[in-house]
Amino acid sequence: MKKIAALLGILTLTVSCRTTGTASSDITLKNIFKNKFYIGTAMSLPQIYGKDRKSVEIIRKQFSSIVAENCMKSMFLQPEENKFFFDDADAFVAFGEKNNMFIIGHTLIWHSQLPKWFFVDKDGKDVSPEVLKQRMKNHITTVVSRYKGRVKGWDVVNEAIMEDGSYRKSKFYEILGEDFIPLAFRYAHEADPDAELYYNDYNEWYPGKVAAVIKMVKDMKARGIRIDGVGMQAHVGLDTPSIEEYEKAISAYAQSGVKINITELDISALPSPWGTSANVSDKIAYDEKMNPYRNGLPADVQANWENRYQDFFRLFLKHKNSIRRVTLWGVTDSQSWKNDFPIKGRTDYPLLFDRRYNTKPVVGKIIRLTETK
Ligand code: XIL
Repeated sequence: MKKIAALLGILTLTVSCRTTGTASSDITLKNIFKNKFYIGTAMSLPQIYGKDRKSVEIIRKQFSSIVAENCMKSMFLQPEENKFFFDDADAFVAFGEKNNMFIIGHTLIWHSQLPKWFFVDKDGKDVSPEVLKQRMKNHITTVVSRYKGRVKGWDVVNEAIMEDGSYRKSKFYEILGEDFIPLAFRYAHEADPDAELYYNDYNEWYPGKVAAVIKMVKDMKARGIRIDGVGMQAHVGLDTPSIEEYEKAISAYAQSGVKINITELDISALPSPWGTSANVSDKIAYDEKMNPYRNGLPADVQANWENRYQDFFRLFLKHKNSIRRVTLWGVTDSQSWKNDFPIKGRTDYPLLFDRRYNTKPVVGKIIRLTETK
């Protein structure tokens, strides 16, 4: 079965190169999307340091943009106040430069994966608004200036708004109110005036969230604060959200005058206990019934999953003028965080390359979609 699937994959690629008249080695995701949008992937440490050689080969060949999956988050960059650790992030940026990639920094201000000291004083009490502003400014300025001109776009703020449009009650919000967002964008812009600046979030297709994000974008623009794009994390499932809902959100963001980045794309093939939240601190207990495909996907699920990827890419191609980048959240299924989120220890199939580093047949199908556009 697996052999047939692999053969079909090769066949699809061969057919597409016949119709485009291009050598088959040139038929890669990055070549095919070249004049449309960047196509990117998140990178893990074994990939950044070249230990996962097979993934690195795929990344070089297929992707035009990279983002660090973890090593640029604040808990890793500044584990203690004013003690920065840049080795991993430096290696990540060097990889991107060597391979001529559009490098994305993820993420400056986020309530998760944040060092414990950030919000508290030496007695463990919440710091004052002035101290928090100073800490934010110091973190953002130090990190953004280090990679000035090299990291081309930053996820400045991650996950600050809830599905109903209210602000997340994070410590940033509790201590500084809504203003922590424009402040973060100001600090980032001062540190690198040429960098693109984005607001990034999951479930950014919920109507309440769309309205709140657009209001935030417009308020910042009215105050002369730079914001270039909205990052729509796309940790989606087989059924939710609908393509129509997703399209409405894309159109609304585009109308508000920002570009759209489809960030963190992975399509889970597994049953979901709760829709499509990607709140990393949420955990659900393991249950055998929720891990039904340990030895591979049944043909009908596989077909649904492939259709789902094609539906999303059809949508991205339709809106290519508004979309700056589409980034997958990893290379192979074995690397994906979805195997452990929201339930630890499952076997999921959310990415474009399988556990043996084979290109999945869906890649050829996605490539073929570009031939009619
Ligand atoms: C995830 C990583 O993939 C995991 O390795 C890590 O343990 C938790 O964070 N939204 C984001 C990403 O913005 O940074 C998260 O990445 C997934 C959800």
